[in-house]
Order: sequence, then structure tokens, then C-alpha cells
Amino acid sequence: MATLAIDGGTPVRVLPFPPRRPFGEREIELLSEAIRSQNLFGPGGTKVPELERRFAALYGVPHAVASTSGTAAIHVALGALNPEPGDEIITAPITDAGTIAPILFQNCVPVFADIDDTYNMDPRDVEAQITPRTRAILAVHLFGNPCDLDALAAIARRRGVALIEDCCQAHLTDYKGRPCGSIGDIGCFSLQQSKHMTCGDGGLTITRDPALAERMALFRDKGWPRKPGARGYVLLGLNYRMTELQGAVAVAQLEKVADVVRRRNELGDRLSERIRSAPGIIPAPVTPGGRHTYWSYGLRVTGHDPVRFAAALRAEGIPCGQGYIGKPIYLCMDALASKRTFGTSSHPLDGCHGARSLDYAEGMCPRTEAILHQMVTLGIHEHLADGDIADMAAGIQKVAAALPPQP
Ligand SMILES: Cc1ncc(COP(=O)(O)O)c(C=O)c1O
Repeated sequence: MATLAIDGGTPVRVLPFPPRRPFGEREIELLSEAIRSQNLFGPGGTKVPELERRFAALYGVPHAVASTSGTAAIHVALGALNPEPGDEIITAPITDAGTIAPILFQNCVPVFADIDDTYNMDPRDVEAQITPRTRAILAVHLFGNPCDLDALAAIARRRGVALIEDCCQAHLTDYKGRPCGSIGDIGCFSLQQSKHMTCGDGGLTITRDPALAERMALFRDKGWPRKPGARGYVLLGLNYRMTELQGAVAVAQLEKVADVVRRRNELGDRLSERIRSAPGIIPAPVTPGGRHTYWSYGLRVTGHDPVRFAAALRAEGIPCGQGYIGKPIYLCMDALASKRTFGTSSHPLDGCHGARSLDYAEGMCPRTEAILHQMVTLGIHEHLADGDIADMAAGIQKVAAALPPQP
């Protein structure tokens, strides 16, 4: 058996992996058009409306509202829904803070459903968490792997709550022939630098519902309808307007995103095939009926020490992280774990408006805590070559074969 690089052996890979280079001449061309137009203000421009029109068409829905980030896109969704203060939003324990902050800023209480082997919320636990105060299910398609949307949509319909999809990591992710984001009541996307399509920072919120779409557009623009006549602000909103600079780059990216997603799907699935036989490893899960888009590649180390496994893999020249976010979001966000929110209050986690006051502590989602500990994540992107995936697989196979098994 080959000696591991961490023990002085020869590493599988010496050369660094190629970087992702998402931008090119098309972005420069559209950016130049925006600058030459002498207007960079979204509502008076052409690029942001074009982005909204084409993004909606790409997802087969009538409405898209552009904003400044994925966090803003989720806040726009919740703002449009207009929950009562103290209402509960059921969401996923493995996610970015950008899923949770809008819930708190909308005076609502995040409730966490535990995950299953797909790393996404277990529909049975989602259903178990529903109370008379539940207003919405906010489903996160983690790493680009779709949630069990048939089950979640059925629960939402039966229990009379909204289904919002957090697709920030899941652009053009297919679930049973339909793109994620178009299946629930509202879909939310991030255009942050690492995402399948990007303009550095940006967001999009989509829906089929014209009333929600109208409220989304108002919420993103301070509640201002921008209609002729006296100026008024018809609902409480924020300024989450996207600029023409972001819009121009995002339009160029929209033209490429299908190819990006196709290539990532190909590479990620190939890596899974090549490591399926590795002892003590479970490749990245794919939800039945779904096509994974591999924003990140998350495998599980069940038969070895995951911390040692990740260190040994890095020594082989394969960059990876152990645990994605170190802990579930309810433990690593101080606003939840310590209930430090607004001033010295813990609002809205203080039982305001008859809300439940939950204890965000270890043990809240036991399966999530166990799976996160076992998780090792690798960066997959569309500019990797087949040989890069072969090296990743060889590194994983080598480490899995050499490390002592752990029950
Ligand atoms: C699942 C998820 N939700 C929300 C967000 C927030 O997006 P942004 O960083 O664009 O605000 C992210 C971004 O990393 C994310 O991955």
C-alpha cells in the first residue's frame, strides 16, 4: 500500500488545480454598453429589466425581481409574504447566515428541521415542526442537490403554508424535469462570486404569483410604486435595488449558466462513480429524481476519522474542508445561539407576540450534527479537466485505503 503524503509519501497531486475564471469578453461588452449609456441606475436602465425578463423565462415563470444579494433575495421573498411578527419559518440547519438573517429581520422565528441522508431537510421532520404559527417552509437545496420537493410541496399545500426555495447554491438544478425555484411559491437565488452565475454580488427572486411579484418589486424599492402622480411609499420596504453594472454582468452570465451547470453535473457525477468503491466513504448524495449541480462536492467519511481524512487528503495535494460550516447554523450564528439580536433584547426570539421561544443548543438537530462532523467538501467547478477529477478520486481512494478503519 502506498505511503500517505501526510506520513512522508509522494503526494498524488503536486500542481495546483486550475482556478475558476467566470468572466470574459461578453461581460466586458455588456458592461461597456451599460457605462456608455450614462445610466447605472437599475429602475431607469435596460440591463436589469433584461436580466429579470430572461431569468424568468429561463425558469419558465412570469416574474423575476433582481436585488443586491441572495440574502436580499430571501428578504424580498419574506417581505412579500408579509408574515405576522412571531410567525415561524421552518428552515434548514446547514446553510449560510443569509438564509436566517432575513427571517430575524422580518421579526420571525427560525425553526430548524433535521436533515436526512441527502443533507437536506427531512420532510417528516418538517411536518413534525409545523405549528399554528408556521407561515412558511424555507427549503435550502444544499450544495446544488435538490430537496424532496414533491414531499415538501405536498406538506405546504396540505398545511396551508408557503414554500420558499433557497436556490442560492442551486442554479438550474433539475427536480423531476423542472428547475428548482419554479416549484415552490417563491425561489431565491444568489449571484455572489462563488455561485453558478455571478456578478460579484447580486440576487434574484422568482414567482408565478402576480400579487407576490408586485409586493416583491415594492419591497426591493422602499415600497415605491414609481407610478406617475404624487410620490408615495405603499409598504415598508428597503433599498435592495440592483445596479446596471451588476445587471450587465449577470445578463452575460445568464447566457452561460446552462453550460456551467451541465459541466459541473458531469464532473461531480464522475467523481462519485470513481470513489464509490472507496472503503469508509459515501459519495455526495443525489436526491431521487434530481440532478445535482455541484456548487460544492460534499462526501461523507463514515469509516475513518473525518478530521484525519481531510488532513491526509490535503497532504495529497487535494484541497478540501471538513464540516462545511463548522457547526449547524443555529450553533454558529451568535444571533441564534446567544440570542443576541437587536440592542440588548433578543427580539424576535423573546417570545414576542405569543411566539415560541426556542433554545438553539446542541442536540436540536442530532442527525445534522452527526453528518456535519462526517462531511468533507471539495471544490468542483466547470473549468476543471477530466484529469483533475481523476486526481481527486485517486487521492480519495489512496487515503481511504491507507487510513485505519474506524467503526
Ligand atoms: C444557501 C445559501 N443561502 C443564502 C445565501 C446568501 O447569499 P448572499 O451571500 O448572496 O447574500 C448563500 C450564500 O452563500 C447560500 O449559500
